[in-house]
Amino acid sequence: MHEVELKVKIRRMLAEKDGILLAHYYQRPEVQEIADFVGDSLALSIQAARTKAKIIVFAGVHFMAESAAILSPEKTVVLPRIDAGCPLADMATSEDLERARLEYPDAVFVAYVNSTAAVKAKSDICCTSANILKVVSSLEDVRKVVILPDGNLARYCARFFPEKNIIPWPGYCPVHKRLRVEDVIKVRKMYPRAVFAAHPECDSEVLDLADFIGSTAGIISFAGETEKREIIVGTECGIFTELRKRYPEKVFISPLEDFICPEMKYTTLWDVYRALNEVSPVISISEEIAEKARWALDRMLSVR
Ligand code: 13P
Ligand code: SF4
Repeated sequence: MHEVELKVKIRRMLAEKDGILLAHYYQRPEVQEIADFVGDSLALSIQAARTKAKIIVFAGVHFMAESAAILSPEKTVVLPRIDAGCPLADMATSEDLERARLEYPDAVFVAYVNSTAAVKAKSDICCTSANILKVVSSLEDVRKVVILPDGNLARYCARFFPEKNIIPWPGYCPVHKRLRVEDVIKVRKMYPRAVFAAHPECDSEVLDLADFIGSTAGIISFAGETEKREIIVGTECGIFTELRKRYPEKVFISPLEDFICPEMKYTTLWDVYRALNEVSPVISISEEIAEKARWALDRMLSVR
């Protein structure tokens, strides 16, 4: 089947089945093109909580679909590629968290949304890279904060709260970890007029070189606001689809030749078609875990 035909079939089936297709900015361009909504983790969670559709097809990775299922328990959440995971999310288990609670009994535990439902269920509040600073500032009288599983995000956050003891978890995103200071220096030399925008999952030394640090949605907004025409983009290359669509007059440069999250690229149009047709694989989470994880996610969503 031709790609255009497949896209039309998916859109028609979504209408017939009362479905909505949500996609993350790192998804393949052709999947982003037919999505009802494309966003960062925070916006996708909000969208999942709000939608009136019966079926949510989530073009993303496992933790994102889990968050949608937790926030919309009455909906059917389908993840077209059940094997699309996030290695960072797997760097903290609920048993690890229990051990850390014994080690830091007076700490508040903040779970980055890139974590499993079981970890969210044992944490005090969730955050995304878009709202971490607001979430941590909402913990007014709290001195000790454990942020898990991304150590880089925790170290980035610690820059803004010298009065707090922020304890980073030893996890990292293997995709953002690959970006080195030398790569940024090299590309800066090639584009001396460019600004550099980076995702907080990058190493601290890389973030030190950035003109802007933010979530994928934050980087997209920054690209629109800066008067600079050339922007070096320190995150996964899927974001270029939205950047080029919104700002065709600007030049976007990747500091790595293959800045790719493999699992974000698993989902093809065929996978979306099959998943919607069969309404499978469906994400299911035990009510006990879902209820506790929902509490931590809702607490995050209520932070303004
Ligand atoms: P955002 O929340 O910025 O979209 O990031 C998600 C992610 O997985 C980053 O690697
Ligand atoms: Fe996980 Fe990193 Fe991929 Fe984001 S880019 S989904 S944090 S592995």
